[in-house]
Order: sequence, then C-alpha cells, then structure tokens
Amino acid sequence: MIILGIETSCDDTCVALYDTKFGLIANKKYNQPIHQVFGGVLPNLSSIYHLNKLIPIINKLFLLLNIKKKYIKAIAYTAGPGLYNSLFIGAYIAYSISYTLNIPIIGVNHLEGHIFSPMLNKKKPKFPFISLLISGGNTQIIDVKNIGNYKILGYSIDDSIGETYDKIAKMLNLDYPGGKKLSNLAKVGNNKKLIFPKSFLYETNLKFSFSGIKTYIFNILKNKKNNSQYKANLAKSFEEYIINILSIKSFHALKKYGRVNLLVSGGVSANKNLRNKLKKQLKKYINKLKIYFPNKKLCTDNAAMIAYLGALRINSGEKVYKNIKIFPKWPLEKLKYPLYNN
Ligand code: KG4
Repeated sequence: MIILGIETSCDDTCVALYDTKFGLIANKKYNQPIHQVFGGVLPNLSSIYHLNKLIPIINKLFLLLNIKKKYIKAIAYTAGPGLYNSLFIGAYIAYSISYTLNIPIIGVNHLEGHIFSPMLNKKKPKFPFISLLISGGNTQIIDVKNIGNYKILGYSIDDSIGETYDKIAKMLNLDYPGGKKLSNLAKVGNNKKLIFPKSFLYETNLKFSFSGIKTYIFNILKNKKNNSQYKANLAKSFEEYIINILSIKSFHALKKYGRVNLLVSGGVSANKNLRNKLKKQLKKYINKLKIYFPNKKLCTDNAAMIAYLGALRINSGEKVYKNIKIFPKWPLEKLKYPLYNN
C-alpha cells in the first residue's frame, strides 16, 4: 500500500510517498527562503507559499516517479501542532485529493512524526524507548512504550533548543535558521577559553530551561569587544553546554525508566558533534545502550515521517474516515486516536 504524506505545519512544504512493503519511495521538500529576510517565520507568508507550492510539488513527484495516482491508497497529513493557516492549507489539499481519489485520509501529530522518524532507518529501533525530541518548536523527553502510549517526562519551560540555537546564532550575526551555521562556527572554536555556568550538573529533574544561558550569552556579547575567534569560542562553549545538558537529562531518563533504547530526533539531532558526543558520553554509563538518530534528511520537518506514521496507524487497524481536522495546539499528552472522536 502506498501512502501520500503531506507536511505543512510551519515553513517547509513537504511531500513523501511511503510504501508499506518497500519503505520510503520519495521525500521532497521546498524550503521557503523568504523568511530569512525577516529573521524568523512569517505565518501568513508561509501559508501562501504552501498554497502555491504544494500541488506543483505533488504533481512533479508523480511525474518524476511515473506513479499513477490510482496507486495511492491513503493520505496522511499533519493535523497539528503548527501554524493555523499552514496546517489548514495542507489539510485542505489533502482532503481535496482524498475526495477526488476516493481514498481514506488520516491526520498525524507532527511531534509523533518526529519521535518515529528513526523508525525509517534500515535498522529499526525496538519498543520501549526514551525519545529525546529536539526540534525548532519543541524540547521534550518522552517514555514511549508503544505507538500511542507516551509519558512526557520533561520539556522546556521556556525556549525550545532549536529556538535557542537560532537566537544565539542571531546574536552572532548568523542568518536564520542559525543552528547549523552556529555549529559550523563552533568547529573552529575553543571551549576552554570561556567559563559557562554548570548548575545543570546537579539537577536530576527532566525539565529544560534555556532562557538563562541566552541571557548569559547576551550579556557577555554586550560587554565585550568580540572578534571572530571570540565568537567561535562562544559558539563552541554553547554547543558543548547544550550537549552536556542533553546527555545528563537522557541519562537520568534512561536510568529512571530502565530503558536501553534512546531515539533522538528533530532538527537539532542533525548536529554531528551532538550525535558523536551523546553516543560517547552515554555509552560510558549505560550498558547495552542503543542510540538511534533519523537519516540526516529526516531530522528537520519532512513528510516521510507523516506518511510512515499514517501507514503504521492504518496497518494497526485504525478506522479512517473521509474527514479533516486541524489542531494548532496539540500536545502529545492530548493525543487520542481515532482523531475524529477528539
Ligand atoms: O525539526 P525542525 O524542522 O523544527 C520543528 O519541527 O519545530 O528543526 C529546525 C531547527 C532550527 O531551529 C534549526 O536551527 C535547527 O533545527 N538545526 C540545527 C542543526 N540543523 C538544524 N541545530 C543545531 N545543529 C544543526 N546541525
């Protein structure tokens, strides 16, 4: 069965095809570069771009792969959380296609999509696992017993980790979104040159907070004349600080819940330094630990994870309807299937 996935929760217009027998067939994304000019996402512009781009991307995909529309057996779209207008355009186009082709439609939670994105790897992780979700909109640690069985163990009480990366990057005059650029700058930095607070070392709770480090860096930059090497040192110190926090929180979650599988996903999980250090630090302390990351292309927003989750749910026997709903605010705790009874 081939499922068409559509993801339009923020500023990426994404389309994918997932085959329950052969796996991921196609994964396309159109980034909306216009937002760079404003240093952040402009919601109304984002929805206009989705409106203009989504159908041409879908058509191009079918043409390119020479796949007939009649082979598509279901559609999975992102129903939330996300920007209202952006979600609406994706849902509406998904609905129109499902109506025309007379196929079922299924609304998927974007966060759940991220959590499951490492499942698209050749080597599939096993349940139960701890999910460390580190994206542009979210920072959460979740105990996952099975699909639909989630216990939120911790989350950020202020900015998300991706947002923090982007804001620090902006302070260093790097373009939006600055996560990757900051990380590249950190490669030539030295973290021994700056002293960062280490109070997190003594915390065993699983909540995150990044506003303190943001203010700390803002003040350092305000009071110092900073040359490019200084900025690189600061980027490096920041990145090491973040990695240590993630490593310590993951350690406590894994230990507390007796888990040996850790799935790290979301845009920030694309960070190579973070991947290597998390593996190195955690494997020292947890026997039999297995860490999984998504394919680099599936770390940031994508429709492959949406199509995959749609497939999982349809295969698990969930009843699907010809109906749509969107939930701009849709925390994992409130996730209840079937969606249409919510
Ligand atoms: O998962 P995503 O697309 O956002 C949401 O779904 O909310 O992630 C985007 C975030 C941005 O904040 C971006 O700066 C960050 O991921 N990011 C990175 C890297 N690549 C993307 N942060 C650190 N290092 C990277 N290599």
